[in-house]
Amino acid sequence: MENKAKIEFDRIYNLDCVKGMRQLDDNVIDLTVTSPPYDSIRDYKGYKFNYKSIAKQLYRVTKKGGIVVWVVGDKINKGNKSLTSFMQALYFQKAGFNVHDVMIYQKKNTPFMRSNAYTNAYEFMFVFAKGTPRVFNPIKTKTARSGFEGLPYNKKADGINKKAIGELKKEKTLTNIWAYAVGLGGSTSDKIAFKHPAIFPEKLAADHIMSWTNEGDVVLDPMCGSGTTCKMAKLTGRKYLGFEISNEYCEVTNQRLQLPAKENKPKAKTRKITDAVSNNQLLFAVG
Ligand SMILES: C[S@@+](CC[C@H](N)C(=O)[O-])C[C@H]1O[C@@H](n2cnc3c(N)ncnc32)[C@H](O)[C@@H]1O
Repeated sequence: MENKAKIEFDRIYNLDCVKGMRQLDDNVIDLTVTSPPYDSIRDYKGYKFNYKSIAKQLYRVTKKGGIVVWVVGDKINKGNKSLTSFMQALYFQKAGFNVHDVMIYQKKNTPFMRSNAYTNAYEFMFVFAKGTPRVFNPIKTKTARSGFEGLPYNKKADGINKKAIGELKKEKTLTNIWAYAVGLGGSTSDKIAFKHPAIFPEKLAADHIMSWTNEGDVVLDPMCGSGTTCKMAKLTGRKYLGFEISNEYCEVTNQRLQLPAKENKPKAKTRKITDAVSNNQLLFAVG
């Protein structure tokens, strides 16, 4: 369905996202992949952040069966985790979304150390659904063993484990813990993105886009920062829409979107992009 309001797809708007989303019709977005400011950890050049208004607007603009992926972590203040992430998730549920999944974004490398606790190496990826998800293209991974072998089947009263020849599957669906390298050389294939202090990995955005949408669907990031979600939506043949309150970050996003295709593609596994788009399968290896 085309959005009939003033806002056009395949564009970035330097706007407060609540104001931006108010200009959208109901039920026009297939997927949102976004990450809000985490408590007051960073100064994002004067943002105003109201997660309740954002949740309500996201519910209104999301199509039936559409998904919102909300990537968020908690600040630790004097040894006390804020749990803002949970507060926000509970509010999304109140706003009407199903909490379809609570996934983990595991960081393979993290510099943050605490002397009296284990090093924090994850953030949450709340997957909110407006009803039942319309699309699910599960990302698969190879199983450790495949082929034919003796497989145990249900023991009867005699307690003896019986075996029958069966075929082990060659691949299985990923778990809901996704691990990514972060930082320079890990998160992104271009260096422009690092003009923003808190990007998430391109692979993370792409994996969600491939999982919850098909080609031609509309992907929103209402707080798009350096534009990671929009860049990956464009590369995977989806329509994108970004709102960002800082003009400087909008420029970063526009620069990333205009990079020649060659520079825009992740260095490793470039070939898989085309395979993935045509097969609608795994875009990047995870883990
Ligand atoms: C965690 S960053 C997002 C980073 C992004 N995922 C990326 O990979 O570059 C959050 C962004 O939200 C923006 N922001 C905060 N409040 C906003 C609002 N009300 N409307 C639009 N953008 C907002 C901030 O300026 C910041 O760039």
